[in-house]
Amino acid sequence: MKKLGKIAAAATLAAGLLTGSTLLAADTYLDYMKKPAPTDCFESREGYSNVAPTEIKPGTPNVKCSNKTNGVLWWGDPFDGTEPMGDLPIDADYKHEEAVVKPRTGQLKYYAPCTTCHNGSMVPYPKSKAPRALVMHQDIVPDALDLQHGRGAIWCLDCHNPRNRDTLIDHNGGEIQFNQPMKLCGKCHGEVYSDWRDGIHGKRIGMWTKGGKKRWWVCTECHNPHMVQTKRFQPIAPEPRPQYPRTRTNADHERNHGAGHAESAAGTTGGH
Ligand code: HEC
Ligand code: HEC
Ligand code: HEC
Ligand code: HEC
Repeated sequence: MKKLGKIAAAATLAAGLLTGSTLLAADTYLDYMKKPAPTDCFESREGYSNVAPTEIKPGTPNVKCSNKTNGVLWWGDPFDGTEPMGDLPIDADYKHEEAVVKPRTGQLKYYAPCTTCHNGSMVPYPKSKAPRALVMHQDIVPDALDLQHGRGAIWCLDCHNPRNRDTLIDHNGGEIQFNQPMKLCGKCHGEVYSDWRDGIHGKRIGMWTKGGKKRWWVCTECHNPHMVQTKRFQPIAPEPRPQYPRTRTNADHERNHGAGHAESAAGTTGGH
């Protein structure tokens, strides 16, 4: 049951239905089709998985975006903007396929990089891991003494490297790149991490063939690490349904489709 729940959750996300925004008012299909395509779209986490619509070749867009929610609906090239995932500490699928991910640093507002300020002098290296109030980054963590992750058990420096702020940190003080957050999350969420590695949690797109190329979504493309308790996934409004064909005014034909086919099939089999 637990696994099924996760699959369902991932499937919902795969449909691009999740974001932080609230439900939008209903639109007619015609109004919708008339709206210009958005110039900025997001893939999974609004504001943190943005793609700029361009053309990968004349007439082929890199993505098709919803002009209702700005969510990505379709990829012209699912590997556009990706890079090799790199090694994970455990033997898994990625070793037998061409696994790629989208880098994270380009999505981060403060990645100037971080050590532009966190160089030990402009911002001193923290002396302790103990939680304290902060006068900075309130847009990311509104109240540093009430971090919405871990119910009081963890704080900034359980994840962020105090000495090299351009990186995250593992249990042994080793550096983890922002582009490989699964290594960070995996250190505390072992079960979900192995589900993710097995393709049960999260999302992948690409070739099905063994050894084929696949894009893996990393944890932070869906989860905001500072908000996991409050900002859970909110559904967004679905795309409007297409118009009925001109001769129809309702969906009765679709509903009776199964029965209708059985009849015509019976009538035509003799002719084959
Ligand atoms: C414009 C300067 C600036 C940039 C760029 C910046 N920070 Fe900070 N950051 C600060 C300051 C100043 C503080 C200390 C605030 C305080 O002590 O009240 C801070 C504090 C923090 C803390 C709390 C722990 C500590 O060291 O005090 C974390 C975690 C953090 N920053 C992460 C980051 C990350 C990650 C990046 C890059 C993605 C980043 N910062 C980029 C200025 C910056
Ligand atoms: C559970 C691990 C974890 C904790 C705890 C945590 N962070 Fe982060 N933080 C991350 C990760 C991972 C990223 C990169 C997010 C991404 O890729 O979208 C990040 C990104 C950031 C950034 C850069 C955001 C941006 O848009 O540039 C800042 C600033 C930051 N964290 C500050 C803090 C502060 C301050 C605290 C403590 C009050 C804190 N973090 C606690 C994991 C954590
Ligand atoms: C240092 C340990 C640690 C790290 C690293 C960590 N988490 Fe957590 N996480 C926790 C704890 C503790 C909880 C709370 C568990 C509970 O209350 O049962 C939690 C809870 C969660 C939850 C469930 C929210 C809830 O509390 O109901 C999600 C989702 C989550 N974490 C995602 C992530 C992601 C994504 C990352 C990597 C960016 C990450 N975590 C990294 C310790 C960690
Ligand atoms: C494609 C999007 C996506 C990716 C990628 C993703 N998750 Fe999740 N995750 C979800 C959804 C959806 C849920 C269920 C919704 C909820 O509980 O808020 C969830 C739930 C969780 C939970 C709560 C689990 C529970 O049993 O309650 C944890 C912890 C978690 N994810 C960690 C991770 C970690 C760690 C990674 C990376 C290794 C990751 N997620 C990658 C979408 C994703």
